[in-house]
Amino acid sequence: MPNSNKTYISELKDYVGKQVALCGWLYNSRASGKIQFLIIRDGTGLCQCIAEYGKVSEQLFDELKHLGQESSLTVTGVVRADERSVGGFELAIIDAQIISESSDYPVTPKSHGTDFLLKNRHLHLRSQRQWCIGKIRHTVIDAIRRFFNDNGFTLIDTPIFTGFAAEGEQTLFEADYFGTPIHLTQTGQLHLEAAAMSFGKVYCFGPTFRAEKSKTRRHLTEFWMVEPEVAFIDLDGLLELAENFVSFIAAEVLRENKDHLETLGADITALKKIKPPFYRLTYTEAVDILTGEKTQKFLTEQLEELQKQQRQLETKIGDLEKQQNGQLKQWQKDKIAAELIELRTALSETDTKIENNPKHAKLAAEFRWGKDLGGSDETIISQMHDKPVFITHYPKQAKAFYMKTDRENDKVVLNFDLLAPAGFGEIIGGSVREDDYELLVERIKEQGLDVKNYEWYLDLRRYGSVPHGGFGLGVERTIAWLTGEKHIRQCIAFPRLMDKVYI
Ligand code: 4AD
Ligand code: MG
Repeated sequence: MPNSNKTYISELKDYVGKQVALCGWLYNSRASGKIQFLIIRDGTGLCQCIAEYGKVSEQLFDELKHLGQESSLTVTGVVRADERSVGGFELAIIDAQIISESSDYPVTPKSHGTDFLLKNRHLHLRSQRQWCIGKIRHTVIDAIRRFFNDNGFTLIDTPIFTGFAAEGEQTLFEADYFGTPIHLTQTGQLHLEAAAMSFGKVYCFGPTFRAEKSKTRRHLTEFWMVEPEVAFIDLDGLLELAENFVSFIAAEVLRENKDHLETLGADITALKKIKPPFYRLTYTEAVDILTGEKTQKFLTEQLEELQKQQRQLETKIGDLEKQQNGQLKQWQKDKIAAELIELRTALSETDTKIENNPKHAKLAAEFRWGKDLGGSDETIISQMHDKPVFITHYPKQAKAFYMKTDRENDKVVLNFDLLAPAGFGEIIGGSVREDDYELLVERIKEQGLDVKNYEWYLDLRRYGSVPHGGFGLGVERTIAWLTGEKHIRQCIAFPRLMDKVYI
């Protein structure tokens, strides 16, 4: 039975030399003659537990030897400090009770394909990678709330059912609201603007829905977004808020999750650089960079580097394939098979990048002022920087109706995107809001939207309008950037993707 005096693995440092009981699941095990090494996980960490023949009953020794991955159990033993051991401590087993046996657990420590893992997400969540990401997500969300709560913002819960579009009508999810069509929210921003006129500084934080027909690594149909909105703020004020906010999140993750970041292979040195000020470029400067010679040279060098990687991967794969044909033990075969899956995935990703490189170079060279920046354009600019980059003042024609027209240049709006570095791309979008009634009506009409749906929103410009603005940060994209995960679907426990909802 689960022990009421149980100790958590995360607390073992306080129990060296003492006897404790751990309750958890068998993560992995191997036997070496008269010793068995059982890795137990309990939700707080991993601990290697050692069963020695003669030190536990013969029956238990035998039971443990045949225990399947993910069986649940309680182990009692004495804690030893051991630097080489996972987590830094070991348990010398005295006794154990098996709570529930598991056999043929489908998600083995070797590599599996993406589709298989998504179908088995309910089990895959127990893997080290998913566990580390979940722990980091927890810190990110806690940091988000703390940053705004400690800086005088009031939390406003904005609705999920809404009657209008804020981020383009193409990505609205329709729902049937007692016979009337309604949408799932794309952003809490418009409601938040109303709240900012009451509370001054507000934020909302919740799930957001976009019927986005893109299967890219950056898109989910349901994602979490945090949005602050501030009355009496200008573009510079927003950029400062955003850079302090993102730096705070990065610092909290570094402080709380160093081990998790290491397990995931995240670039900790790069994260330490995430401090204000971030780079600032106007859209027009970004276009000059994209179409300039420096970018073409950068991409050519990148292509050469990718081709080098491709050759190295091909050689490694060839070597392993040869080894596979030799006389091997089962565990050696499994190890090679797992390595091959990983190397082949890396090779296919490299192949895709090589194929895309000239296309992206062409898109960049032919980019013309006026278009929104595309995914590949953002990637290029973000790859050329080692810290996040703000891009401001986009062409009005490419942006949402609510963005304020720059009074000094009416071709652009007072907005920004924040691109995470190292090729990751956009994690924040924000703007100063159009606060002039007439100009706002004009913008709504220009975009072919029905003014009737925005009457309440226009009231905010009728009664005591003030300069105000805010932004939205995508939680999954932020986590993917911080952890170095390639695909944001790994950054939420149960992802919703365009082509499939698995479980
Ligand atoms: O740039 P977006 O569309 O901005 C807004 O929604 C504004 N109303 C926010 C505001 O000013 N209050 O979205 C903001 C962020 C993006 O930068 C991105 O991080 C994330 O939300 N995002 C997505 N994340 C995952 N999947 C998608 N389909 C996303 N679409 C946007
Ligand atoms: Mg955006």
